Amino acid sequence: MNIFRTKPVSSLIAETKGKSGLKKALGPLDLTMLGIGCIIGTGIFVLTGVAAADLSGPALVLSFVFAGLACCFAALCYAEFASMIPVAGSAYTYGYAGLGEIWGWIIGWDLILEYAVGIATVAIGWSGYVVNLLNNIGIVLPKAITSSPFEGGVINVPAMLIIALIAWLLISGVRNTSGVNGVIVIIKVAVVLLFIVLAVWHVKPSNWTPFMPYGFNGVISGAAVVFFSYIGFDAVSTAAEETRNPQRDMPRGIIASLLICTVLYIAVSAILTGIVKYTAYKTPAGHNAPVAYALDLIGIHWGAALISVGAICGITSVCLVLMFGQSRIFFAMARDGLIPKVLGGVSQKHQTPAVSTTIVATVCALTAGLFPIGIVSELVSIGTLVAFIIVCAGTIVLRYKRKDLQRSFKAPFFPVTPILGILSCGYLISGLQPATWIRFIVWFVLGLIVYFAYSYKHSALRAKSGVEEQVQN
Ligand code: ALA
Repeated sequence: MNIFRTKPVSSLIAETKGKSGLKKALGPLDLTMLGIGCIIGTGIFVLTGVAAADLSGPALVLSFVFAGLACCFAALCYAEFASMIPVAGSAYTYGYAGLGEIWGWIIGWDLILEYAVGIATVAIGWSGYVVNLLNNIGIVLPKAITSSPFEGGVINVPAMLIIALIAWLLISGVRNTSGVNGVIVIIKVAVVLLFIVLAVWHVKPSNWTPFMPYGFNGVISGAAVVFFSYIGFDAVSTAAEETRNPQRDMPRGIIASLLICTVLYIAVSAILTGIVKYTAYKTPAGHNAPVAYALDLIGIHWGAALISVGAICGITSVCLVLMFGQSRIFFAMARDGLIPKVLGGVSQKHQTPAVSTTIVATVCALTAGLFPIGIVSELVSIGTLVAFIIVCAGTIVLRYKRKDLQRSFKAPFFPVTPILGILSCGYLISGLQPATWIRFIVWFVLGLIVYFAYSYKHSALRAKSGVEEQVQN
């Protein structure tokens, strides 16, 4: 039984060459914009409220530093992989080519949590901002249709609607081209900067004491929650085939987008807890739309309204990139035979992966409608953290096993960087709720059952090696 068979890098590149039509137009700046486009979203605009109010307190800034550090280690390893295997398909492809089929499968299965459950999380965040904005202009939607049964509602309709809208856009062939993405990124970064410029003058250092009201464990739990806000720099690698010089520019795009967002996040988190007491975020508006709410509290209502509009725009683009990414990963997995071919099907009419997008959207919409953001965002974080740990470990394994692969970028201070990546991501996992670990273990075991019951037998690589064996005999 060969669960560690690897997909040859040469065949990956050959598959890529078969595809036509992708213009190699992106440079390092476009890639950085793509990264920021997927990073800044629900995490900074929404989850900071819960983290500040209930977990980190004013030490929210430390939580952002810890989560940012873990991401930097992982990003350096990611960049090494991206420079080594410059084809689209994300960590799933890297795992398959470098470590073996079972690892590729585990990463792919994990990425469903990152992308599909991520879409649900981002949509719930979007709904929070829309509801808050409507409230401010006097339109109050009933709680029954704006929150999940866990929060005293029935179903979160706005969250489901945005997912349906994005799915429709993707199926009908509208792609998040770099031009549109560039405009949205500028809006997003502008509203974040606007918040910093408007609010920094209202910081009262007395609001920062007590600094760690929930202790150091609270800070780590807060870091595990806000880790969500950094997710997305890995999406840069999905554009490998549209990049002029992927070996050189993908590491740059990954690292630059992460660094820019880290700096912005640290400034925003310090200011958020500096202008009002962290306890102010314990209200529904503080939980759902903390950045706009903070400006409301200090009386800058026009700024709050602008930030809400910017956040809604920005979060929409994250949702779009995540759904696009998920359908690409399914496409790659279906091509390899690990999931049913129908999931990789492309619609004749629009030339888009209509079936997988419809299935993903339906499952995501139900999840977004019925679950609260706290549960789903933690699942996304644990899934992504485990994928990062495998990528970091993979970098170490491949430095020894695959010396032949060319690396135009190498993670510095080897093996310290990947080891610190593994340890820090593991530490963040310890900050998540035990219920999240259990849900993840159930998901993981389910993945292994699917692999051995279906994927192992249907693997295209297995079929190919079987034919080769028969020819040799
Ligand atoms: N980092 C992305 C967000 O915060 C997923 O929405």
